[in-house]
Amino acid sequence: VGVPVRSGTASRTIGIVTGGGDAPGLNAVIRAVHRAASRRGMRAVGFCEGFEGLLHPETTIALDYANTAGIIGRGGTILGTSNRGSFAVKTGLGEAQSLDPAVIAGARATLATLGIDALICIGGDGSLTVALELAKAGVPVVGVPKTIDNDLSATDSTFGFDSAVSMVTEALDRLHPTAYSHRRVMVLEVMGRHAGWIALYGGIAGGSDVILIPEIPFELACVAETVRAREEAGRHFTMVVVAEGAAPVGGEVSARTRPQDREARLGGIGERVTGELERLTGKEARCVVLGHLQRGGTPTATDRVLATAFGTTAVRLVEQGCFGFMVALQGPAIRMVPLADAVRTLRRVPEDHYLLTVARELGISFGDGRSTKQ
Ligand code: F6P
Repeated sequence: VGVPVRSGTASRTIGIVTGGGDAPGLNAVIRAVHRAASRRGMRAVGFCEGFEGLLHPETTIALDYANTAGIIGRGGTILGTSNRGSFAVKTGLGEAQSLDPAVIAGARATLATLGIDALICIGGDGSLTVALELAKAGVPVVGVPKTIDNDLSATDSTFGFDSAVSMVTEALDRLHPTAYSHRRVMVLEVMGRHAGWIALYGGIAGGSDVILIPEIPFELACVAETVRAREEAGRHFTMVVVAEGAAPVGGEVSARTRPQDREARLGGIGERVTGELERLTGKEARCVVLGHLQRGGTPTATDRVLATAFGTTAVRLVEQGCFGFMVALQGPAIRMVPLADAVRTLRRVPEDHYLLTVARELGISFGDGRSTKQ
């Protein structure tokens, strides 16, 4: 796995699968794969409904100019996706279960029956872990990184992230006027299961006063202190962005389901923070959960370009017989990294990240008592 296998005969039919949660830019990858493949005389076949589409009775779409035209700016994935079912391997941070050998055998049988020579797997941490398992079982796989959370360590960024941050920024722009008009605390809960990138970038871009992220356990007393300090300084409203995976010091993340065969469904931290801030500050507070608005909608230009670059590079790796790799943005280049390295650790906001310093310079609080001066 992760070692170029040059078969000598170029792959002729490429399968594509989109797995895990959708992200703006998936269709741009699909389009790019089709275009780059057909220029080389290869066929591209899409599997429907995520990895489940690889199991009998498999569902596929033969990609052509008609069904890939005009999709570069369309959100979601024309192939459908799923983060449940037989291929759901992630159960928590750094925790995964192995794929059932019968499932791997079923996928291999489908690829053989359909004459698929290589499989491009587009996905986040979970789907790329599946891709790695398939690669270990001898399936010729190339990975394409995708997640709005931007938490894959081997790539500088993933498509979908920029679109999600734009949505958070727009939401804050809309919430700001109502917050100051009513002199309220406004809490915006955003996605970000293990990493706070969306909250950090969106919070800075949208002028938030408090940003709570999974990497920095918070104390609500410190957040309340920020609200009070702003009040004393004549700023009678406070904007708070909280990532769904953020948790208080010594506390648990807020989840709607328990982790079982798949990761827990997160949610509820926004309401918790809102209620507690009302109690601690005596100010009226409201909570908005942005949810899947961050994943839907049209991809930004940045995400379309990155997705397109990933798609064409993935086809080049297939052509060269470089399997067991993932395409990745590293500095000014799209490179290939072994799938095993791509899923080893998640990229979380490091303590010394420059944006934490920037935010603290502005007086933004992370709920850790280090920047309450207004
Ligand atoms: O991994 C991307 C992500 O958007 C997470 O931030 C979030 O926890 C999860 O997907 C939500 O998934 P679902 O669509 O199953 O609710």
